[in-house]
Amino acid sequence: MKKIFISPSVLSADFTRLEQECKSLEKCGADWIHCDVMDGNFVPNITFGIPVIRSMRRCVVLPLDVHLMIDAPERYVEQFADAGADIITFHIEATKNVSQTLKLIHSCGKKAGISVKPNTPVGALTPYRGMFDMVLVMSVEPGFGGQQFIPSSLDKIRRAKQLFPNVLVEVDGGINADNVKQVVEAGADVIVAGSSIFGEQDRKSAIDRLRNAR
Ligand code: DX5
Ligand code: ZN
Repeated sequence: MKKIFISPSVLSADFTRLEQECKSLEKCGADWIHCDVMDGNFVPNITFGIPVIRSMRRCVVLPLDVHLMIDAPERYVEQFADAGADIITFHIEATKNVSQTLKLIHSCGKKAGISVKPNTPVGALTPYRGMFDMVLVMSVEPGFGGQQFIPSSLDKIRRAKQLFPNVLVEVDGGINADNVKQVVEAGADVIVAGSSIFGEQDRKSAIDRLRNAR
């Protein structure tokens, strides 16, 4: 059976205790830590940025899976790389310079992810085939944690796996113990989950449940 990576989103963490929250995810068996960076322009919400990523880098050794929901992400790639991001994902809708941004991420020695919002077809990524390491299928409108999974995302996951069989497919938004099986069966390799992990007392069981839902 292929490995499923679990990438808990710290958007649902208690920010007054971010160090302990990150360490608890590490102890509970998370594979990566998903960091949702929002700028109040590309999405109608503002979260955190480079200094917070730098601080998180000092707390844990897990890969930091940085999801940039910001306009013109190419402006900040080098700074996020320097702060300790391991995987840098940006939105195809957020820049006119997609190829340049992918090359820039790789030139910083980092893995490159490219994401589509719910209304953007996965086929929009085909011109960039071979230039990215991961596709991030958004299964909610980006901007907020705790939303409902959009069912048509399942077809997009299948399509992403079909078009790009050699890259990881990450799925983000509204994933919980009830729907994760369908998400994995559709082809997901990486599961992002915020509320369904942080909302549970026993995070280790929550992570195990997501990983072993098949
Ligand atoms: C939404 C973010 C997600 C979100 C996931 O814009 O990209 O990572 O926080 O949270 P849940 O699992 O609560 O939908
Ligand atoms: Zn995210």
